[in-house]
Amino acid sequence: MVIIQYSKYLDFLSKLGIGGAHPGGINLTKEIFKRENINKNSHILDVGCGTGQTAAYLAYKYGANVTGIDINPTMVAKAKKRMQKNHLPVQIIQVSAEKIPLPDHHFDFIISESVLSFVNKPRALKEVFRLLKNGGRFIAIEHTINQRLKEKEENEIKQFYGFDSLTMKKDWVALMKQAGFEHIRIQKNTSIDSVPDLHYSDDLELGFYEIMGKHFDILSRYEGKLGYRIYSCTK
Ligand SMILES: C[S@@+](CC[C@H](N)C(=O)[O-])C[C@H]1O[C@@H](n2cnc3c(N)ncnc32)[C@H](O)[C@@H]1O
Repeated sequence: MVIIQYSKYLDFLSKLGIGGAHPGGINLTKEIFKRENINKNSHILDVGCGTGQTAAYLAYKYGANVTGIDINPTMVAKAKKRMQKNHLPVQIIQVSAEKIPLPDHHFDFIISESVLSFVNKPRALKEVFRLLKNGGRFIAIEHTINQRLKEKEENEIKQFYGFDSLTMKKDWVALMKQAGFEHIRIQKNTSIDSVPDLHYSDDLELGFYEIMGKHFDILSRYEGKLGYRIYSCTK
């Protein structure tokens, strides 16, 4: 049985209001979409859109029809505020990636940037597949372990982030194939770094620094073992 635990880390992220809370940040997102054929007729869904940085960029840069969904009310409020402030017609909906109340075969592109690791992966992938048009593309930037770790180490990472499992490249490929996807490509980003874009909430608590410290501690202790990849596949 898949058990999705409460994620202290995600709670922290929503209060921090970090604009690009995925590895590689908005610069990696821009690089990825440069290679895709996007225009004002494209329908794009950002699953787990966070504060809406990517959704806003795609609407602004390409004039595309963009929808963002996220389960976290603080993230959703921040994403809506971003769209209002920038006069962008992006629809933001508070729902779970595991059950998205939108019609089948609607989107040309779906993106999820550091989201699938936090959810029930088979269910979310099934939804993404259902929502894509035939021939549509799904792009995911996702945490990927480079090797199996000791049980104790895996548990530490899973508990802190609220992941139900730690996933290697081959596991992601199997999950995507199981959902029906084809032409799965995997890339490693070696050159692009994140640029912080912060939107703090007023109710930041002291525990905040502890969580931030633990996050950086995990990243440094598992350097080389815990990474991420860019996955793209077709329906
Ligand atoms: C690491 S953040 C990434 C946010 C955004 N994609 C970005 O790159 O800035 C993970 C996001 O996934 C969202 N999330 C977690 N579980 C979810 C679920 N079941 N359905 C939809 N969104 C979810 C969180 O609220 C959070 O905004």
